[in-house]
Amino acid sequence: MKKLLPVILFVSLLLLTPVAAEEEWNFNNRDVPYVPTKHGIVDLMLEMAKVTSDDILYDLGCGDGRIVITAAKKIGTHGTGIDIDPDRIEESTENAENANVTGMVKFIQQDLFKANISEATVIALYLLPSVNLRLRPKILSEVKPGTRVVSHNYNMGEWEPDMSKEITDDMDFEYDSHSVFFWVVPANVSGKWKWAVQTETGNEDYELKVDQKFQAVYGEFTIGDRKIPVKEMKLTGDRLYFTIEQTVKKQFVPMRFDGHVNGNFIAGNIESGIGSGKHTINWKAARNPSTVTPLEEW
Ligand SMILES: C[S@@+](CC[C@H](N)C(=O)[O-])C[C@H]1O[C@@H](n2cnc3c(N)ncnc32)[C@H](O)[C@@H]1O
Repeated sequence: MKKLLPVILFVSLLLLTPVAAEEEWNFNNRDVPYVPTKHGIVDLMLEMAKVTSDDILYDLGCGDGRIVITAAKKIGTHGTGIDIDPDRIEESTENAENANVTGMVKFIQQDLFKANISEATVIALYLLPSVNLRLRPKILSEVKPGTRVVSHNYNMGEWEPDMSKEITDDMDFEYDSHSVFFWVVPANVSGKWKWAVQTETGNEDYELKVDQKFQAVYGEFTIGDRKIPVKEMKLTGDRLYFTIEQTVKKQFVPMRFDGHVNGNFIAGNIESGIGSGKHTINWKAARNPSTVTPLEEW
């Protein structure tokens, strides 16, 4: 029971106190108190983020290191845990030794807001709602598009999760329900993209204007001065997909674009035509950098 007291206090405070008040708390000058994620939830977090041995996993506020240690032991993933509390770093280091994964994980005593997270391919979090919101701009600007983020219990406000799951257990309480949220960090594809396409009658100017709210994207497409509706536009990490339909000889002919975004360039394929007339061509577009809107300013 003594062991459970901090957990009960943490959960009760979060359930009973509005988010605004949570910011007033002071957990010994830390942003979040120490409460470990239960092992079943750690497994679910790793599963939802599809963590593999090729990933580099960061746990920001790593506690006793269990998330990175579990991934190293069960999956063979290299990881880094960051915690502001030196006792937690000492405990993590000891736990890594006991689990025989010292070569695969490292633990750094640091404020997570000051950490260099640029090499992460997966980020695990168990923080607080307001801390997630403060961390959001850092994640969106410092990691590579396509990096996965998985968070125990707390979401990212208006950055909607790509997936969420509920897990209920009755091990410690009569009813204990947790959420796990998952996101893929989107590339910034906002702005005006242009390219030219060679046709039998000469070059045609293509323009794609994209409005973006985190991973949600809305496109306007023009060929010359013709507006063409954009269908099924989707962004996953650095991969942008959309379809346009043109009328050729009174028939709707789809063009399916699939491109990899790299800064102010997109390159990929267009699958065009129907039936036996189907063919694939390359696609390369450049963006005017002055048309980009930062991801936090939609
Ligand atoms: C709720 S615990 C989560 C521990 C671990 N991630 C887990 O899921 O088991 C939050 C941890 O964040 C750490 N922490 C709080 N504020 C921090 C900060 N600004 N920088 C780094 N770590 C912090 C605390 O010391 C604590 O260990």
